[in-house]
Amino acid sequence: MQTLFRGKHFITLREWTREEIDTILDVSCELKRSFAMGVPTPLLPYQTVFLMFFEQSTRTRNSMEAGITQLGGHAHYLDTSTMQISHGETPKDTAIILSRFGHAIACRNCFWKTGNAYLREMAQWSRVPIINMQDDLYHPLQAIADLMTMREKRGKDLRRLKVSIIWAFATSHKKPISVPLSQALLFPRYGMDVTLAHPKGWELPDWVLEEARKNAEQTGGTFRVIHDQDEAYRDADVVFPKNWGSWVTNESTDVVDSALEANRAWKCTREKMHLASPECLYMHALPADRGNEVEDAVIDGPNSVVFDEAENRLHTAKAVMALTMGGRG
Ligand code: CP
Repeated sequence: MQTLFRGKHFITLREWTREEIDTILDVSCELKRSFAMGVPTPLLPYQTVFLMFFEQSTRTRNSMEAGITQLGGHAHYLDTSTMQISHGETPKDTAIILSRFGHAIACRNCFWKTGNAYLREMAQWSRVPIINMQDDLYHPLQAIADLMTMREKRGKDLRRLKVSIIWAFATSHKKPISVPLSQALLFPRYGMDVTLAHPKGWELPDWVLEEARKNAEQTGGTFRVIHDQDEAYRDADVVFPKNWGSWVTNESTDVVDSALEANRAWKCTREKMHLASPECLYMHALPADRGNEVEDAVIDGPNSVVFDEAENRLHTAKAVMALTMGGRG
């Protein structure tokens, strides 16, 4: 088991070995147990994490804020529109300054083709860990909470679990591809049989598919891409029906267009869930576009574990901070 993570950036799980990810999961479970028992865990007393948000958030912001408080530290919530960033201050200068003031910089920047680059630029100059709270490509805090939830529900050995990441119709906003992309890369590393299903036009980048296949080969799992929604649900053990934007094929920021409208039928319904295994878990990063992505009867039904999944955002966020913060440089 690896233990020395002080100062390590948490930008994508691709840069964390399986052993290191397992350590985060072990620490998450330990922190969850302590939280349940009311046992204080002041692992980061007087430490500061800066939370820079270019976009809205409920789970990520509050799991990080509550999490650092429970670890004995403090978070500064930073709406970037009120920072000098809005007058052109660079990621380099922002990272140098904030890293002199505190112990970690967390950032959400989902702008297509610039979000991850922004975090990478900060990482180059920061003396403290950069924690990715979602960018245009990755959402590692979500993917690790999903993994923790599957292990809680289906056991630590997830090999050959049939998991389907399924595109779903939504009109709320043009969402990043970072959730399905992170899941597609991570789950095959645990030997799962992963299906990625979407209508044509909602592809993930080719390099992601190649890497997901390679990850599956190394663990005895499988990875496939299909365009048949029913096939994705058939006999699945876990489904993640969720919308993502058509960024790879269409960089327009328009939310609704005729291509999207033509795919209204990509929706998680009771009928679709009946195709899956009877014990199939319904999971979703949230927020869900109720009525479009999913029927209330499913998200509020017996197969849904979305609130346990959301709760695990707290425990995993605390583990990531507890392991990476604490040093300066
Ligand atoms: N799943 C997720 O990241 O939720 P928020 O956008 O509310 O942070």
